[in-house]
Amino acid sequence: MAMTLEEAEALDARDPLRDFATEFDLPEGVIYLDGNSLGPPPRRALVKIHRCVDDEWREGLIRSWNDAGWIDLPQRAGAKIARLIGAAPDEVLVCDSVSVNLFKLAAALLKRRKGQSLAVEADEFPTDQHVAEGLTRLIDAPLLRLAAGERPPTGVGVLIKSHVHYKTAEIVDMDAEEEAARASGVDIIWDLSHSAGLVGVDVGKARARFAVGCGYKFLNGGPGAPAFVYVARAEADALLQPLSGWMGHAAPFAFRGDYEPAAGVLRFASGTPPILSMTALDAALDLFDGVDIRLVEKKARALGSLFLRQTESLGLLPLASPARRGGHVCLKSDNGYAVMQALIARGVIGDFRAPNLMRFGFSPLYLSYADVWRAAAILSDILFTDEWKKPVYERRGKVT
Ligand SMILES: Cc1ncc(COP(=O)(O)O)c(C=O)c1O
Repeated sequence: MAMTLEEAEALDARDPLRDFATEFDLPEGVIYLDGNSLGPPPRRALVKIHRCVDDEWREGLIRSWNDAGWIDLPQRAGAKIARLIGAAPDEVLVCDSVSVNLFKLAAALLKRRKGQSLAVEADEFPTDQHVAEGLTRLIDAPLLRLAAGERPPTGVGVLIKSHVHYKTAEIVDMDAEEEAARASGVDIIWDLSHSAGLVGVDVGKARARFAVGCGYKFLNGGPGAPAFVYVARAEADALLQPLSGWMGHAAPFAFRGDYEPAAGVLRFASGTPPILSMTALDAALDLFDGVDIRLVEKKARALGSLFLRQTESLGLLPLASPARRGGHVCLKSDNGYAVMQALIARGVIGDFRAPNLMRFGFSPLYLSYADVWRAAAILSDILFTDEWKKPVYERRGKVT
């Protein structure tokens, strides 16, 4: 049965995370259900970027590599992410994009697995599949596409796998997958893009050794924020990644021609870090100081459940109903693109995933139960009044 607005507001009054909303700079009148794609700006990140530009870049100039500590920013930000995924502070590095980090990590792992396959699920996020395809083509290694949830057969050396699926939002049991992988000698590279900052991840407890993830979704690092790479300490020094640039060298400022990898995960660095965007991410990460991620995960699920409950009677089928759901839900509709455009015009911002999915993300640090209630009411109104049928909502931009 649907909830009343008063009931939703009562949930807000009891919400231990309710005060975090003031940390974000969201436009008036917008209910933002796309933090699973691009997180909104935390106020502290906006302040820090300006300071970085004005004081560190304009005044400090090149001195800021030392004076403002730019040179160690990839590790400092990495240590903040490590806390969120159960890694040790020196096991995570912020660098490059998820795609590039997948490439480096999968290449380093396949190198010690001569003749074995790289496996990826056929409904995995496209870039994970594309990188796997490009890498195996380059090094002439076999590529295996698995069905959703299928365990890798004999002969697979490395598996790329999302922890939270980008469409179904299903949370995979990392402990169980790692145990099975250990038994069959497979290295799993976890894609934590939809997990970091939203669901409880404990790579240490699961004995997971390799992961990558995104900085611009639930970590709110800004558009195109750099990604992260996690490599367990016991593994890092045995791995050689192919984009062996000077920032991953043991002594970059010795300017030697021969490559000597830095110790630990730092060897996964390649070129000069993008300081402005990394600064935004680094400041955004401070928001998570002292936050209990289990509360965040619980609220994300509760917000998603409320949305499903409020929209149940609208005839839009949820894509899936996983037992453990991450931060978004997808509703199927053949008119999904136009309906989403109509929603956006009314200030409810979600996204559309071809061919027929409307995706709504529930980022718990700035969304209230009342927001979700209102978003569902607006969706219902758009469907009942046929507002979505206006031709203007059929027009497609490059990004959906
Ligand atoms: C699961 C997953 N992996 C990777 C990416 C994107 O990776 P990149 O940072 O290379 O753009 C996304 C983007 O939405 C994603 O959802």
